[in-house]
Amino acid sequence: MRKPFFYDITLRDGNQSLKKPWQLTEKCLIFDKLRELNVQAVEVGFPASSHMDFEACKTLADMAWDNLVISALARTVQKDIDSAIMAIGHAQVPRVHVFLTLSPFHMKYVLNKEPNYCANKAIEAVKYAFDSIKKVNKNAQIQFSVEHFGDCAHNIDFVIDTLKEIVKAGATTINLPNTVERTRPRVFIELVEKVINALPDDVIISMHNHNDLGMACATTVEGYFSGVTQLECCLNGLGERAGNTDFAQVAVALHNNGVDVPINLDKIYETAITVSQMSRVPIYEKAPLVGPEALAHRSGIHQDGAIKTKDMDFGAYRPIRPSLIGRDDDEKIGFTSQSGKSAVYEIINNAGYPITLDEAVRLTPLVKEISEQKGELCADEILNVYFDKILDIKGQFELISFRHESADKFKLEFKFNNEYTESFGHGNGPLDACLDALKNAGFERKLTFYKQYALDEDKFGSGASAMSVINLIGDSGEEIIGRAIDKNTAKANVKAIFNALNQIYK
Ligand code: KIV
Ligand code: ZN
Repeated sequence: MRKPFFYDITLRDGNQSLKKPWQLTEKCLIFDKLRELNVQAVEVGFPASSHMDFEACKTLADMAWDNLVISALARTVQKDIDSAIMAIGHAQVPRVHVFLTLSPFHMKYVLNKEPNYCANKAIEAVKYAFDSIKKVNKNAQIQFSVEHFGDCAHNIDFVIDTLKEIVKAGATTINLPNTVERTRPRVFIELVEKVINALPDDVIISMHNHNDLGMACATTVEGYFSGVTQLECCLNGLGERAGNTDFAQVAVALHNNGVDVPINLDKIYETAITVSQMSRVPIYEKAPLVGPEALAHRSGIHQDGAIKTKDMDFGAYRPIRPSLIGRDDDEKIGFTSQSGKSAVYEIINNAGYPITLDEAVRLTPLVKEISEQKGELCADEILNVYFDKILDIKGQFELISFRHESADKFKLEFKFNNEYTESFGHGNGPLDACLDALKNAGFERKLTFYKQYALDEDKFGSGASAMSVINLIGDSGEEIIGRAIDKNTAKANVKAIFNALNQIYK
């Protein structure tokens, strides 16, 4: 399968639509990002439009990496073509991009010219560009764009005849822009297919789709599968009005559909952030792939699926593994009143605190109730509930103190039902000794599980560095999990026993 050829237009179509077009240093920064992405061609600007753009095109042509096509835009007038050649003619592979409309509507109402006049003007301009640049650089190429090609359904035979002459005049790439997106993708692509079928096979067909109806990416991706090779895209979908085809969306959509995409996809996310900052065009929250919310899950069902498949390349409820585009693989799990136990479990675990799914089930209605009032909860708000309801369970038992009075004499002081009790026991370490002391006070409980975890950090200023987890058998033979944290590991163990006791003796 032929490889897609990514022709980036951020520095020209994207730039011309900015409220404050970029200066040279900004263009250089974007150019570096395009190098990191490994695009195959960059349209660096429209040299005849201003002195600043001319200088920028000249500098970027000097910065081109090996085999990169450096393109500059020109109307079908000699001064534009001369200016483009002066600006980029010295690049390793320069391309002059000449454009003119052949749309009946545009020729009549905007240019006020006859079709034959426009056809001849286009052919002559391409010929002039070809002859002039070949004198300067043998590697040079010519691209011709039929501006408003999407509006050429009624004169497509005339357009095709003109394009055949344009190819003879030296153009090797024919770009077919959907300058204003008016129809559905299939209708536009059928028009493109007519051109593909009519022109010689070695002519490279290109697409340049604006996003007026929000289908530019779909049209470009389907265009590729219909025989278009050059895909004109803009970073962050910048461009006139609703923008151009979004670069990242096309690259990832092709990748997801089995195409060998010659782009460093893992640079997409950081590039999107840089372009947004530099263009002052914020990334919409729900923007596909790069939006802050693009990989967030809030509904309980979605969270459950996403969590269960998070280590897989093909995940439930997500189009890509986030690291494919250089995003953090931890998809955002936001807790709202629509969320469920899997989210509670995941958020607490991710914060470094052990929890079982049963405990998450217990906490979920409590967290949901808070969220009904507040909306989305952050991890700390959920941890507060965990601390309150899982670690700090109030009940009939209250630990006062404990200590080993001698190697095998352990003294435990506590209150049960507000009544002071003092008891002694012995055993291997405070855990055994404490259970023995409780047995001697009439509260015998069987221990079935014990584990102590080191806590990374003290999130709540309690100074805790260890969490003890113990299981005691409850009155009906069920296992009751007791948890406690403390900076003193022995104290964490004894507190965990009291935590479990308070669940048994409610
Ligand atoms: O949208 C368009 O038609 C253009 C051309 C200059 C290629 O940007
Ligand atoms: Zn355009």
